[in-house]
Amino acid sequence: RLILVLNGPNLNMLGTREPATYGHETLADVETLCQRTAAEQGLDVEFRQTNHEGQLIDWIHQARGRCAGILINPGAWTHTSVAIRDALVAAELPVIEVHLSNVHKREEFRHHSFVSGIALGVLCGFGTHGYRMGLTHFAHLLNG
Ligand code: DQA
Repeated sequence: RLILVLNGPNLNMLGTREPATYGHETLADVETLCQRTAAEQGLDVEFRQTNHEGQLIDWIHQARGRCAGILINPGAWTHTSVAIRDALVAAELPVIEVHLSNVHKREEFRHHSFVSGIALGVLCGFGTHGYRMGLTHFAHLLNG
């Protein structure tokens, strides 16, 4: 039961980037949290981040038939990318969308997500705990 955890642009800057919004934990901390959660729940996790949209799309395609689900924080591409949405549909896998911040209490342009309409569920506003909740849900789903 392999879950692919994908992170989009600028999330490599976590910890130093707008800490009032995104907190002080780094992406390495998020990966540690995901690996720990996965171990507890009997899942395997592959954790990745990219600032290149085509790279993210390639990873999504490669997950098809190989992974059991995708947990994705698409960053700003959430609000811009039909291509990422289409790739997620093509992967034919359950998708959980996660955001550190509560996008709905921020700027209007963050209120729309191209991903939410094809996601199993959406977690936002819970900081890094959202990743833990998403993985826990996958375990619940896959362990029946
Ligand atoms: C984000 C929210 C997005 O609007 C923003 O562009 C990000 C991070 C979040 O995790 O809260 O880069 O996805």
